[in-house]
Amino acid sequence: MKHLWDIHFLLLILVYLLGGVTSQVNPGVCRYPLGMSGGQIQDEDISASSQWSESTAARYGRLDFEEGDGAWCPEITVEPDNLKEFLQIDLRSLHFITLVGTQGRHAGGMGNEFAQMYKIKYSRDGSRWISWRNRQGKQVIEGNRNAYDIVLKDLEPPIIARYVRFMPVTDHSMNVCMRVELYGCEWLDGLVSYNVPVGEQMNLPAYPVYLNDSVYDGAIIYSMTEGLGQLTDGVCGLDDFTVSHERNGWPGYDYVGWNNESFPSGFVEIMFEFDRIRNFTTMKVHCNNMFSRHVKAFRQVVCYFRSDSDWEATPLSFSPAADEKNPTARFVIVNLANHMASAIKCQFYFADAWMLFSEITFQSEDDPTHKVDDSNTRILIGCLVAIIFILVAIIVIMLWRQVWQKMLEKASRQMLDDELTTSLSIQSETLGYHTHNQSNTTNAQESNSTYEHIFPLGPDYQEPSRLISKLPEFSQRTEEPSKQANTVQDGVPHYAEADVVNLQGVTGSNTYAIPAVTMDLLSGKDVAVEEFPRKLLTFKEKLGEGQFGEVHLCEAEGMQEFMNKEFLFDITEDEPVLVAVKMLRSDANKNARNDFLKEIKIMSRLKDPNIIRLLAVCIHSDPFCMITEYMENGDLNQFLSRHEPEGHLALLSNAPTVSFSNLCYMATQIASGMKYLSSLNFVHRDLATRNCLVGKKYTIKIADFGMSRNLYSGDYYRIQGRAVLPIRWMSWESILLGKFTTASDVWAFGVTLWEILNFCKEQPYSQLTDEQVIENTGEFFRDQKRQIYLPQPVLCPDSLYKIMLSCWRRNAKERPSFQEIHRAILEIQS
Ligand SMILES: *[C@@H]1O[C@H](CO)[C@@H](O)[C@H](O)[C@H]1NC(C)=O
Ligand SMILES: *[C@@H]1O[C@H](CO)[C@@H](O)[C@H](O)[C@H]1NC(C)=O
Ligand SMILES: *[C@@H]1O[C@H](CO)[C@@H](O)[C@H](O)[C@H]1NC(C)=O
Repeated sequence: MKHLWDIHFLLLILVYLLGGVTSQVNPGVCRYPLGMSGGQIQDEDISASSQWSESTAARYGRLDFEEGDGAWCPEITVEPDNLKEFLQIDLRSLHFITLVGTQGRHAGGMGNEFAQMYKIKYSRDGSRWISWRNRQGKQVIEGNRNAYDIVLKDLEPPIIARYVRFMPVTDHSMNVCMRVELYGCEWLDGLVSYNVPVGEQMNLPAYPVYLNDSVYDGAIIYSMTEGLGQLTDGVCGLDDFTVSHERNGWPGYDYVGWNNESFPSGFVEIMFEFDRIRNFTTMKVHCNNMFSRHVKAFRQVVCYFRSDSDWEATPLSFSPAADEKNPTARFVIVNLANHMASAIKCQFYFADAWMLFSEITFQSEDDPTHKVDDSNTRILIGCLVAIIFILVAIIVIMLWRQVWQKMLEKASRQMLDDELTTSLSIQSETLGYHTHNQSNTTNAQESNSTYEHIFPLGPDYQEPSRLISKLPEFSQRTEEPSKQANTVQDGVPHYAEADVVNLQGVTGSNTYAIPAVTMDLLSGKDVAVEEFPRKLLTFKEKLGEGQFGEVHLCEAEGMQEFMNKEFLFDITEDEPVLVAVKMLRSDANKNARNDFLKEIKIMSRLKDPNIIRLLAVCIHSDPFCMITEYMENGDLNQFLSRHEPEGHLALLSNAPTVSFSNLCYMATQIASGMKYLSSLNFVHRDLATRNCLVGKKYTIKIADFGMSRNLYSGDYYRIQGRAVLPIRWMSWESILLGKFTTASDVWAFGVTLWEILNFCKEQPYSQLTDEQVIENTGEFFRDQKRQIYLPQPVLCPDSLYKIMLSCWRRNAKERPSFQEIHRAILEIQS
């Protein structure tokens, strides 16, 4: 459940980043939970046709909740021919809903009721109800197969509604109980319906092109009234309108189009109705412009506005520049000049025989996202928004800080089972995946719902930690916002840290996600590391810095005495040892100090030859320090970039080489270190060559300094100055669903292995932009064979590439364990 906050957070940001590019809502990223499980949807907004008992009332129909008798159950058995039971959710405002989740009644093993099938009805005004159907016209959605697994279903087409009803469907008389969740985002356009003449058919010599609105949900007679459909489904048509995004779409599927012969007036009139009076800034119309087929964007548009009962006398008129050169489909942006209206009527004039639209969106003053598109002021406003967000974040963090302490203990129990496993079932049309999640964290419940849509900050975000250089940003809670903004560049929280259970998040030095349960075990025990005399440290180089501390590379004299005999350390007597020293600023507050001490506790328990060790600490006086190992050959990324594969080329260039078997040796060590971490249920979240240090004789230790170096800033995707993500190393479910597990570490291992075999000469997916990498992630999710895998490196034998591919399996459960990977690479090496 804690993951859901990640989704909120990430998706919201993505909506910001990408939403404006294509259309207002990007269905690919508008997928965050709307609050059944998170609690933002209030009990009184959940109702039902009936209930079996008080303890199975509608309010217990929340996905992943075990309260009451564990689900909503209607009063009587559901009969195949009498579908009248429903669970209804009022979202209080219009939402764009892309995904639904259902689950049965498990009740700790007592329950065994679930809905094998269901239908969805929705309404925008509470009176006109529409039955959802998929793009093939099918209404029934396949539901659950057992009482506990969550089954998610994409809604294709998505729904725009305020009220949603789940109606269980059965093929024989049976008891049914349901828990549900809706996923999507707020529908900021506020558009309730568009009325438009029906789309026509274009007869090309080879085949007909159907330009009707195939998913319109209103009445269709001569014209279409009271509905929404393809013009608001978030899907923009392609340049060639005869080709569709939809696999089963006919030619012209994505567009609604009209021919000038049917409109003697020379224009097509579309009337738009909105939920309330709005202050409109722009309208964007996505038009095809394939003039070779007599299709052009409109020549002129004349819009009338109505705020009360009468249409304003003077219309607004706009003529876009005619474009006979560029045949690409495009958004034509119409400035609506701050007209106030609850209805807009626009007449679009033909510029050629055909006019084809695929999407129309509206931006109004009270809708924050449109500002992103305002190119002139984009940067300025972006910064302002970021500052406001940070302010909000600080407030939320302060509030959460208090709640969190209390929740920690509770959460720790729940974290135990938090490994969320995903199994996939690809149905013919809708792609569904089941998640089984025993955990039931309460985080979202206590959240301040005011911020839900602005900045869905969960407890997981309260103390986003940084990697080493971004040291202790604890005083996010106390720092001035302006100061925050200044440090956005290097002080951004690490997304991977986002749901790290707690404390270590603050000091920021490490990326390990520590299950709260492990924390529990640790607490109470004494710190097992010794105090080190500060004066024996000699500064060599700054590895990184943050607002609240620094990380230095130092030489330590006499460290040998401090090093535990229980593990080997490859140094010779008397030589000063290279160490990384993480320092907390002397003026850090009490909380920060406590967190620093907790982090020491955790770090001190990590003992593995392939994991960087905490050697000693300085906590008797300020500034607090943590002294960890450092290895003389630096990180693996730099190390390999300096080397070449054995062979002719290397001979010619006289470059140092690394043999294939040594590459494998290094890979096995990483696998081994990860095996250790995963055995403790630690999730690293940022495994990559930049985070592996190289010692003598190709020894490797896994660290977590990656982000501290400016050198690697290109490996992280910055999101509005608040989170950075190593997206090129992240599994699809980490990016889209915010889920970080050992299986997502395995994915990252696959990428790390790929880097190694490429001698780190190339960034993963170097030919893709960050946005394209995220799009590719969507392809992994959809799994329609359009996802791009990293290519087989030249040096890489098939057997090793096979391991990489297995790490990138869509189904997290099918990915190998680190144990298996370790064994497999050992076999290849020998
Ligand atoms: C649109 O046209 C297609 C192809 O003729 C047809 O199958 C479909 O029923 C039409 N849809 C609507 C909503 O008119
Ligand atoms: C609409 O928004 C603009 C820009 O914020 C503002 O100047 C204008 O006064 C608003 N119009 C009304 C009627 O509120
Ligand atoms: C429709 O458009 C074509 C191409 O621009 C033009 O030749 C024709 O006269 C138009 N027909 C009408 C009725 O306006």
